[in-house]
Amino acid sequence: MHSFQELVVKFNKGFDTNHFPSSPTSLYEPGEYFLGIGGKRIRPVLCLLGNELFNEIHEDAFHLSNAVELFHNFSLVHDDMMDEASLRRGKATVHTKYDINTALLVGDVMLIRAYEYLQKIQSAHLNKILQLFNTAAKEVCEGQQLDMDYSKKDMVTMEDYIHMITLKTSVLLAASLEMGAIVGGASTANCKHLYEFGKNIGIAFQVQDDYLDAFGDAALFGKEAGGDIKQNKKTFLLIHALEVANQDQKLALTALLKYNGADKVEKVLELFKACCIDTWAESLKAKYLHKAFEHLESIAVTSDRKKPLIELANYLMNRNQ
Ligand code: IPE
Ligand code: IPE
Ligand code: MG
Ligand code: MG
Ligand code: MG
Repeated sequence: MHSFQELVVKFNKGFDTNHFPSSPTSLYEPGEYFLGIGGKRIRPVLCLLGNELFNEIHEDAFHLSNAVELFHNFSLVHDDMMDEASLRRGKATVHTKYDINTALLVGDVMLIRAYEYLQKIQSAHLNKILQLFNTAAKEVCEGQQLDMDYSKKDMVTMEDYIHMITLKTSVLLAASLEMGAIVGGASTANCKHLYEFGKNIGIAFQVQDDYLDAFGDAALFGKEAGGDIKQNKKTFLLIHALEVANQDQKLALTALLKYNGADKVEKVLELFKACCIDTWAESLKAKYLHKAFEHLESIAVTSDRKKPLIELANYLMNRNQ
């Protein structure tokens, strides 16, 4: 059994290598650049944790982990173009360091590399794994489209928001765990509970991401401060603030959605603070963490095997990067 930190090290040992050929350099050098600037490697580690919950780590789980991390990086390269983000992991995003067309193709080729890693899997359950992977991949696209659609809307409900972040973020965390478990020979019932555990952790994970985008220490978080506010993203911060704000605050917030001055972020943050967003964020994360742990309890393995997952969940809730 390994802790999640040990699995990050184990995964990186295999992953920190070139994933592309050398030519054309104009395509593959930017790809290696992005993969080389780090990242928490949460999703591949979830594959390994899901696998080790039921069995010793199988080589297939490493192929799967590589595939999932490449898919995730593909989604980030494209996400940064969609969000007009200049910083990622504290470094320049691909479309800013190179250009839009390069970033488009770097993302595409990463997605294809992901499938090449899946192709290495020997498991008799490969078909099931592919089905899960493809479903999650399509859902990520659906969630990303909803995220863009919502940014143009005046307002969305908290329910819409949870639906959108479930698709764009949490299904990939859930599927990573379940695919790892399938490699480990887990039963259908155990797989389902593990998926639900991952889904609820994933929701809380995106809630924390949205919180950090507004209130995090940009130097640690590695992304431009207030990026979501600038893009009029309909995060829980805005939705909740509008729910609890008084009439004047509501008018001010609504007007700020149409405002693009240099002090936009600062002004919105002031209103968020006045609406006690901090306390609300904590209770929202706690709600989904609780749901997640209920599913974890229902998984039929001894409780000591679940410890690394509990540790990881707690770390993700309180992370600052
Ligand atoms: C960023 O994911 C995208 C979201 C779903 C919030 P991570 O926070 O896992 O990004 P890296 O891989 O660690 O940089
Ligand atoms: C993006 O959500 C999730 C995916 C990449 C699918 P965000 O847009 O909030 O992610 P960050 O904050 O840029 O990492
Ligand atoms: Mg983004
Ligand atoms: Mg985005
Ligand atoms: Mg974000």
